[in-house]
Amino acid sequence: MDLLKQRIQTDGLILNDSLLKVDSFLNQQIDPELMMKIGEEFANRFSNEKITKILTIESSGIAVSVMTGLILKVPVVFARKKKPTTTTDDVYTTKVYSYTKGESNIITISKKFLSPEDHVLIIDDFLANGEAAAGLTKIVEQANAKVVGIGIVIEKSFQPGARKLTEAGYRVESLARIKAFSNGKVQFL
Ligand code: G4P
Repeated sequence: MDLLKQRIQTDGLILNDSLLKVDSFLNQQIDPELMMKIGEEFANRFSNEKITKILTIESSGIAVSVMTGLILKVPVVFARKKKPTTTTDDVYTTKVYSYTKGESNIITISKKFLSPEDHVLIIDDFLANGEAAAGLTKIVEQANAKVVGIGIVIEKSFQPGARKLTEAGYRVESLARIKAFSNGKVQFL
């Protein structure tokens, strides 16, 4: 997606050889117009699928998921990284380890928001090692629902997440695929 790639080149900050800071439009300040364009792109790419629900994980996956849900006219559910004190329902849970942060989170979703009839599109902002997306697929499978695909805003293709998810049989659609950071520039695939 050229618009996104241009934005990464102009506003992204390369922190080291594996980390990109995009907090001016995706991770802290959010550009709603760009999020809407990203939502349209996901809706187009998965237009051959009958999607009933979008699933993401807090927090940075939520904005782009809501835009996609608005276009597809389906609800958006997000996994929580901490079980809220107000949760009284039964929840699906799985453990997600973050290599980037060096910590594990138990992620939870109330059982009432996923059912066996659901065809679920998983969306997230970054794909690095694939742990978050893989955790979300496990939750969909616990609900006996179907994963129709995984939509990613920025894939770091030099890390193993995309390959692992594809080898596991999931369709992964990433809007910007980064091959490397070199000479202070983002190199796309
Ligand atoms: P993985 O799910 O693919 O295995 O990724 P990993 O655990 O390594 O990433 C953990 C967190 O770091 C995720 O955010 C992910 O989006 C983010 N992340 C990974 N690589 C980058 C990067 O190059 N740049 C930025 N900006 N973020 C990256 P999170 O903890 O879920 O945070 P948030 O969604 O609340 O923002």
